[in-house]
Amino acid sequence: MAVALLVAAGSGERLGADRAKAFVVLAGRPMLEWSVAALRAAGIDDIVVALPPGEDAPAGCTGVPGGATRSESVRRALAAAPPGEQVVVHDAARPLVTPRHFTDALAALAGADAAIAAAPMTDTVKEAGEDRRVVATHDRSRLWAIQTPQAFRRAALERALDVDAATLAQATDDAWLVERAGGSVRVVDSTPENFKVTTRHDLRVAELLLGERGA
Ligand code: CTP
Ligand code: MG
Repeated sequence: MAVALLVAAGSGERLGADRAKAFVVLAGRPMLEWSVAALRAAGIDDIVVALPPGEDAPAGCTGVPGGATRSESVRRALAAAPPGEQVVVHDAARPLVTPRHFTDALAALAGADAAIAAAPMTDTVKEAGEDRRVVATHDRSRLWAIQTPQAFRRAALERALDVDAATLAQATDDAWLVERAGGSVRVVDSTPENFKVTTRHDLRVAELLLGERGA
């Protein structure tokens, strides 16, 4: 059985709301509740939430205090997770996630240590130096914009997270920690609709899309 780690401990500095981002009300529900509902609809009921100071976990979820960095929050949530050979990590800041994202990622674990939601790049991607001079145009067909959920074999995630605080702080996603530990990671098709709410603009778009779905 799979257990879920929902990381919700960030302050949401770039959003600049009057409370932590994951608890901002979005189309009638605190943001993180949309992810909890999608997890349950996918049949995943063991959910550990990494929390910011002063907030409680949603009913039926286990809460743990978050860490100073995202990866530290993941590590703390994993330490509190009930038994289960598969672990799915998700950002509460991606409220447009669907049950299918979770089931697809978990299904793709059959052939890898980690399976991560990813959207094909639609923009052309160029590399430029500090002087703004373009040095390369990358082959877009091989590039993926990485999201969550990210599903892991539990032993692989535990091994990957067993690193010093500086390495943890460097990680922008959990799969990178598995990659650097020599584990196999595969991408799973997602769409740009599963975007991360970062700015006020993102919040407005999410509000519109989730309003259409209905609370
Ligand atoms: N997160 C976390 N613990 C941290 C930092 C982030 O659990 N110490 C979580 C956030 O709650 C979010 C996810 O990781 O669900 C992705 O982080 P991000 O979008 O950067 O959210 P914030 O860190 O809250 O936003 P900002 O960087 O603008 O402050
Ligand atoms: Mg952040």
